[in-house]
Amino acid sequence: MKNMYTRLINREHPLPEDYIPPNLVDIGLPFDALPHDPKRLLEERAAYAALELIARSRREGLNLCGVSGYRSYKRQKELYTGSPYVAPPGTSEHQSGLALDLSCPQIHMELTEDFADTPEGIWLKSHASLYGFILRYPREKESITQVPYEPWHIRYVTRPLASYLTLTGMTLEEYYSLPPAEAENI
Ligand code: DAL
Ligand code: ZN
Repeated sequence: MKNMYTRLINREHPLPEDYIPPNLVDIGLPFDALPHDPKRLLEERAAYAALELIARSRREGLNLCGVSGYRSYKRQKELYTGSPYVAPPGTSEHQSGLALDLSCPQIHMELTEDFADTPEGIWLKSHASLYGFILRYPREKESITQVPYEPWHIRYVTRPLASYLTLTGMTLEEYYSLPPAEAENI
């Protein structure tokens, strides 16, 4: 199962500087950003999956809200400070349009570890895979992902792969180090 949705993006596997997803859309997800801000954009399939996820959470009385979706190579370069929380340009999943940072009013839409203990953060962890997302940077996998724990960052990888990774507790890096025959069966 190798396609853009399941692609590994990290420091060892960067995106080309000129990569822009072909189908970026703003479908009106609840976002802590002004209209027309490019951070509201997501790849189309990821956007509709996020819409379903957020709609379900709202039906359960939760208040998940988008904070950051698509980021261009140029924008990532502007943001990059050397902090481990900001991937170097070309190595951010946000450039693929498949990553979304979520937060909630209880923590003032901030992206901090406190999100993990909010009702929204707890719900997201147990429901993201039903919609094809993984929590991409889990606790205690920092040495593998090379990114600190980010309970707010979800990545669309399709439902079969999201289920597999969530049930096994594997990161995308660990999945791509499986023997090819085993990975093909997922
Ligand atoms: N915060 C993640 C690592 C990013 O900048 O893509
Ligand atoms: Zn993120």
